[in-house]
Amino acid sequence: MADNNIKLDIGRAKASVVGAENGVSSDELTALSDRIAALHATLAQERAERKYGFYDLYKDKETLAEVGSVARRFLDKGYDNLVVLGIGGSALGTIALNTALNPPYYNLMTRRQRKDRPRLFVMDNIDPVSFRAMLRLCRPQKTLFNVISKSGGTAETMAQCMVVVETLEKKLGAGAMKEHLVVTTSPRKPDAPRSLLHPVAEKYGLETFDIPLNVGGRFSVFSPVGMFPAAMLGFDLDELAEGCAAMDARCSSADMMENPAYLHAAVQYLMDTRKGKTMSVMMPYADGLRDVADWYCQLWAESLGKRYSLDGGEVFVGQTPIKALGATDQHSQVQLYREGPNNKLFNLVEVKRFEKTMRIPDTLEGIDALDYLRGKSLNKLMSAEFRGTVDALRESRRPVVRITLPRLNAHSVAQLMYMLEVETAMAGRLYNVNTFDQPGVEAGKKIARRLMGGAG
Ligand code: PA5
Repeated sequence: MADNNIKLDIGRAKASVVGAENGVSSDELTALSDRIAALHATLAQERAERKYGFYDLYKDKETLAEVGSVARRFLDKGYDNLVVLGIGGSALGTIALNTALNPPYYNLMTRRQRKDRPRLFVMDNIDPVSFRAMLRLCRPQKTLFNVISKSGGTAETMAQCMVVVETLEKKLGAGAMKEHLVVTTSPRKPDAPRSLLHPVAEKYGLETFDIPLNVGGRFSVFSPVGMFPAAMLGFDLDELAEGCAAMDARCSSADMMENPAYLHAAVQYLMDTRKGKTMSVMMPYADGLRDVADWYCQLWAESLGKRYSLDGGEVFVGQTPIKALGATDQHSQVQLYREGPNNKLFNLVEVKRFEKTMRIPDTLEGIDALDYLRGKSLNKLMSAEFRGTVDALRESRRPVVRITLPRLNAHSVAQLMYMLEVETAMAGRLYNVNTFDQPGVEAGKKIARRLMGGAG
């Protein structure tokens, strides 16, 4: 049977390969292993106490079935467009899944080519030019909007929602609202803060999905936040859940040598704190993974970039995540990566087998200098570029972690995203910070609210 597991290879991040000042030694990893095992016990205990819900989202068959059945009901209406209104963790997971699992240029395809699925627009900003352009493209009659905000208090999302409500009311009437607007927000619970989206849902009788209170935005892709749009786009929710389950099984080990999430967390942490690699580059060699790298940037930055430790002391920690794309950014960033400051860990992601192949034809005769390309494939060229970059970085003594996906599909992308979530939870513990809050974001939000005449 084919091995569907994604692979993590830290060989090129070792001291024996890139030198002790740039790579981790076996002794350094071993020295961290007891701490990781102890932190695993803490995280496992807290998971059992339901402190963090992200680990178990894929097991919630009831919610996934509901998401699927609501999506089917809306798909029967034949909408041309699904528009997600949300920002940060309410948007980036859907963008990542869409780029990974839908064909490139999906929105430009005919309805038939899209297999009767809607086009997808994720509005994760408030730029009036983009918002107006989306409204011009998406006729209300043919559009389902999904407003997503856990807090229901995010100014950007609520402002978008207000515009959309007005448009729908004007064009279709308040009675039609429930056929065109779906809400995803925190549950109505007496002990939970009330979301501003609750009264909206009540007023118009809107279909509503809950974001569990113990799941933070950037960890919510496998909740209805990501799964409802995924179901609307026809992604296989079971396969996504199976990918999570496969990775969860691998991450159940306290032994970091058997647990890819912990091994990667350990390497990234040691690189940052011992080797001066204060930046973590995520560079997939597949267009489909471009936005997983973007999603990772939020996960890593917002979870680990913290001023205070769990003990209350000032620590100012966090590795700066950077997204790049191979081979494109070889012609943009790699000059810096190889010859600039040696302050980065490179996480290069490769897809072993692309879903398509493309032969480079035997053309442009007479140009001998192109003989090396003739008759080969773009697949082979991509693979050579990947290997070339890995080797070139090694020559410059830059540490590289290789992540390999056997193929790019729902199963493998779920494994990757689940691994990065578990890894982030462990990294937060290694840094001894609160992985799941984001106090640094609040100040700017409050000032903006005040400037708009709100309560701050
Ligand atoms: O990860 C997070 O918690 C944030 O990025 C939030 O997702 C983002 O700020 C949006 O918040 P909300 O879903 O409450 O609108």
